[in-house]
Amino acid sequence: MGRTRVGILISGRGSNMMSLVEASRGADCPYEIGLVASDRPDAPGLAWARDQGIATFAQSPRGMAKADYEATIDSALREHGVEAIALAGYMRLLSDAFVARWRGRILNIHPSLLPRYKGLDTHARALAAGDTTAGCSVHVVTEELDGGTVLGQAEVPILPGDTPESLAERVLAAEHGLYPRILADFLRH
Ligand code: GRF
Repeated sequence: MGRTRVGILISGRGSNMMSLVEASRGADCPYEIGLVASDRPDAPGLAWARDQGIATFAQSPRGMAKADYEATIDSALREHGVEAIALAGYMRLLSDAFVARWRGRILNIHPSLLPRYKGLDTHARALAAGDTTAGCSVHVVTEELDGGTVLGQAEVPILPGDTPESLAERVLAAEHGLYPRILADFLRH
């Protein structure tokens, strides 16, 4: 059976994208990476993907209507035969129209144990709340921010003396294990 072609959207460093690319090289992996696209032409992750021989696409939304910007992303994804999208540190909200067009075929990784701490600054909020456990979630993207069905989570402990940065690092390591596994499970079913 052919592998599902996945497009990854990033805005920055792209460490989750790298873990998905590396996992996609496994013999039994049900997906291959068709395109890495970014709203930031200078995203460090884009250069890495290009060096790996993966097709990349960059389009800054600056000066464009959101619908026009998203239409360029949509065309690039379709031109590369993309069938499912993985958001990996993509820092823009997708419009309802875009989500509807790809309904049930967009996943995201979020650095909290959803439904806790939707949105930004998740680690600082977990520390401020006195939580003893943090983690990350992979979920289906819907019109509601960080609100779609959670497909899988990984937990990490919060340790005495943790800062948002030290906690982010521990959660990020868990993200790199979780995302490839959950994306593969999702595409196999
Ligand atoms: C990760 O923490 C991810 O959970 C969040 O944004 C960050 C992206 O990091 N959505 P990277 O670009 O994948 O390194």
